[in-house]
Amino acid sequence: MAAEESTTSSSPPPLLRMEGVSKRFGPTVALDHVAFEVRRGEVHALIGENGAGKSTLMKILCGELRADSGAMFLEGRPFRPTGPLDARRAGLSIVHQELSLAPHLSVLKNIVLGLEDTRAGFLHRSTNRARARAALARLDHGGLPLDSLVGGLSVGLRQVVEIARALVFESRVLVLDEPTSSLSQGDAERLFDVVRRLSAQGVGIVYISHFLEEVRQVASRFTVLRDGRSVGGGAVGDTAEMIHLMVGRSIEDFFPRVDKEIGAVAMTVSALAGPEKPIEASFPIRRGEILGIAGLVGAGRTESLRAIFGLDRAASGTIAIAAVRGGQPFAASSARPDRSRRRGLAMLSEDRKGEGLAVAMSVADNMTLSAPERVSRFGFLRLGERSRRVREIAGGLHIRSATPGLPVQNLSGGNQQKVALSRLLFQDADILLLDEPTRGIDIQSKTEIYLEIGRLAQQGKAIVMVSSYLPELFGICDTLAVMHRGRLSRPRPLGEWTAESVMRYATEGSGE
Ligand SMILES: Nc1ncnc2c1ncn2[C@@H]1O[C@H](COP(=O)(O)OP(=O)(O)OP(=O)(O)O)[C@@H](O)[C@H]1O
Ligand SMILES: [Mg+2]
Repeated sequence: MAAEESTTSSSPPPLLRMEGVSKRFGPTVALDHVAFEVRRGEVHALIGENGAGKSTLMKILCGELRADSGAMFLEGRPFRPTGPLDARRAGLSIVHQELSLAPHLSVLKNIVLGLEDTRAGFLHRSTNRARARAALARLDHGGLPLDSLVGGLSVGLRQVVEIARALVFESRVLVLDEPTSSLSQGDAERLFDVVRRLSAQGVGIVYISHFLEEVRQVASRFTVLRDGRSVGGGAVGDTAEMIHLMVGRSIEDFFPRVDKEIGAVAMTVSALAGPEKPIEASFPIRRGEILGIAGLVGAGRTESLRAIFGLDRAASGTIAIAAVRGGQPFAASSARPDRSRRRGLAMLSEDRKGEGLAVAMSVADNMTLSAPERVSRFGFLRLGERSRRVREIAGGLHIRSATPGLPVQNLSGGNQQKVALSRLLFQDADILLLDEPTRGIDIQSKTEIYLEIGRLAQQGKAIVMVSSYLPELFGICDTLAVMHRGRLSRPRPLGEWTAESVMRYATEGSGE
C-alpha cells in the first residue's frame, strides 16, 4: 500500500495508525489483525494481560520487529521503518519494559547510543554530553555522573537512564512500556510531568501499564489487547470497564484470603545492618505468617532481603532459624546464597534478569535450576515428573504458551516474572523472601499469585514480602512493617495500620 491514507478534508489523519497488523512467532500468534490509533498530543494507554501482544505491537512500530502483514501510517503517510535507528530518526522513541541498557557502558554512552555523529569531533562530544545532561535534568537527575557505568546503578536509576535515552530526541511518538515499575514515587511523578508537557507539545504517547490507577492518572484514551486482538477501547474512565475488557469478565475477588494458622517462630532477624542500608531491621516471622514490608523505593527494603539471603554482605546483626542449629543465632554477615538455600530460605530478587533467570535457557530448566534434587532420583533427572510439575505450576500461574522447552527470552515480560516466581515454588523452601513479586504482572495473574502465596502460608511456610503496592499488602498480609531511611518499624498486625499511617511512617519515620 503505497498511496497516502485516504482522509476526508475535514478531519486530518491521526498521528499514528496501525491496521491489520499480524505477527506470529512459530506456532504462537502474537498479533492477529490489530488496529491501533494515536492522536496528536494524547496519552493513549495500551493495556491487556501478560502475553496479550502489547510489547510486540510496539516493537513493530519502533522498527525492532517486522510484522507479517499490515500497514502503518505516520501523519497519514505510509511508514515502514527498516530498523530501530530508522524509526528513531522518524521520531519514534521507546522505553523498553525489560531494561535494554548496556551495563558495561557509561550513562552517557547509553543515552546517546546510536546517535553519535560519526563526523563529530570534540564539539559534538560536548553537545552530546549537554544533551544527555539536559535529558536527565528533565527527570530531576541532572547530577547523575555521566561517566559512571550503568551496571553499577540501582534498578530504579537504570530506569531513569532508559527514559532519558528516549527523551534525548525530539520524538513525535513516545512509547513507554511499563516505565514506572522500578521508579520511586518522586521519579514516577516527574515522569508524569514530562509526559504531560510532551503531550501538550503535540507528542503522541503510548503508555503501557498494569496499574490502572496510573492509567487513569495520565491517559485520556485506551485500547485493550486480548490474545493478540484489539478488543475495544475508548475514553479512560471506569476501571471496572477496562478490567472487564481485559479479562473478558469481572474480577470479584482481587485478594483471595486463605484460611491458615500462624504457628511458631520460623526465623528471627535482629539488629540487621548493611554497609549503608538497612541501618536497623529486626523482626520475627512465624510459620504460616505473611509479613509485608512497605516503604518508599530506596528506603532499604531490597537491601534488607539481600543481606538476609546473603546476596550482599551484612555489616552486623544476627539471624536465627528455628530449623537450623536448634535456633541458635548466627552472624548475618556469614549468610551466603547457597548456605541460605540449604537452611530452607528462598529469595525472589528484584533484578530478575540479572540474578533470577537464565533467559536463554528453557522454562523447565529455569524452574528447576536451583532444585534439581526435587525431580531427580539417585542422580537421574526424572523427566516425566519434571514436565508434569512444570506444567502444573505454569498452568496455575497462567504462563501463556509456556511449553516447558521454550527459552524464557521468548516469553512476554510478565510471563518471565512468573517463571522466576515458579522457580521458588519448585524449591519448596520454608522461608520465602519475595521482593516485589507481582511487579509487571497482570491483574488476573496477580490474583493467582496472591492465592499461591496464601497456599504456601497455609502449608506452614513463612513469607516476607516487600511491595510498593499498598493495596496488595493490605489485601494479603497478616502483619506489616514499614521501612523509613534504613530503619524498619516494629511489625504490627494489619488491623493496627491504615494506608495513612503507613505512608506517614514511610515518609516521616514516625506515626506508629
Ligand atoms: N521472540 C519471541 N519468540 C517467541 N514468542 C514470542 C517472542 N516475543 C513474544 N513472544 C510471544 O508473543 C506473545 C505476546 O508477547 P508480548 O511480549 O507482546 O506480550 P505483552 O502484552 O507485552 O505482555 P506483558 O504484559 O507480560 O509484557 C506471547 O505469547 C509471547 O510469548
Ligand atoms: Mg510486554
